Amino acid sequence: MQPPLLTAALTLILIITLTLLTTPSTALTPPFPLRKRLPRPFLSTPHLRHDLHLQDTQPTLKQWLSHQNPPMGNKMSSNNQNQNQNPIISDVLPKNRLINIFASLTRQFDSIESKLNDATSNVTVLAPRNSAIQELPRKPWENPEDYERFGEVGAYEGDEGQERAKRNLERFVQAHVVTGSPWREGEEGRTLAGDRLRWERVEDKIYIQPGNVEVDSIAEQVSNGEVWILNGVINYR
Ligand SMILES: *[C@@H]1O[C@H](CO)[C@@H](O)[C@H](O)[C@H]1NC(C)=O
Repeated sequence: MQPPLLTAALTLILIITLTLLTTPSTALTPPFPLRKRLPRPFLSTPHLRHDLHLQDTQPTLKQWLSHQNPPMGNKMSSNNQNQNQNPIISDVLPKNRLINIFASLTRQFDSIESKLNDATSNVTVLAPRNSAIQELPRKPWENPEDYERFGEVGAYEGDEGQERAKRNLERFVQAHVVTGSPWREGEEGRTLAGDRLRWERVEDKIYIQPGNVEVDSIAEQVSNGEVWILNGVINYR
């Protein structure tokens, strides 16, 4: 009876191994149910050289800032029929490799995704660069208060725990989308999470307050808003 059993066991191991090996390793979406381990997108390092190349083609902050004052004359929006051809935030966000972790997070939540997809309402997306998210001491869905209340093990286990993690993650993403664009210096911006932010210029750099979060670059300017790349994250508890 031993040999058939052994064969069966070996076959099973082989199947499991093959399954693991063929699981797509480049999936960008963090898996739900969430595990406490870092999901793959948080581990994958972007291809540096490519990122640098992409960055070269972006307007420099200096160029962008030079268009901020005075406000440009009112360009009448008579190009409504072109709207379908004009790229919008949801088209350009997934294409920038510097921020593909954040971009994949925005697609986890219907309310956020539809906001970025809405050609008729402008947003300023404050996308933390991949490394800023990867270097966080805690994952974006972890909240110290949850650990205090529900314990290390219980915080994100079971249906309720996963719900908590999902809500935290949603809030993290919402905190990085300011409603309205153009967003001018000193003007109070409201995020989808309800926080109030403003930005200030210090020489040729931009800092978002509160938090003094440095803006690396203005990556995209499209018909329904802008994508800014941040060197840090907003409102991280
Ligand atoms: C939305 O953004 C576009 C592109 O920057 C701008 O031309 C337009 O005036 C903005 N609309 C509003 C309501 O601010």
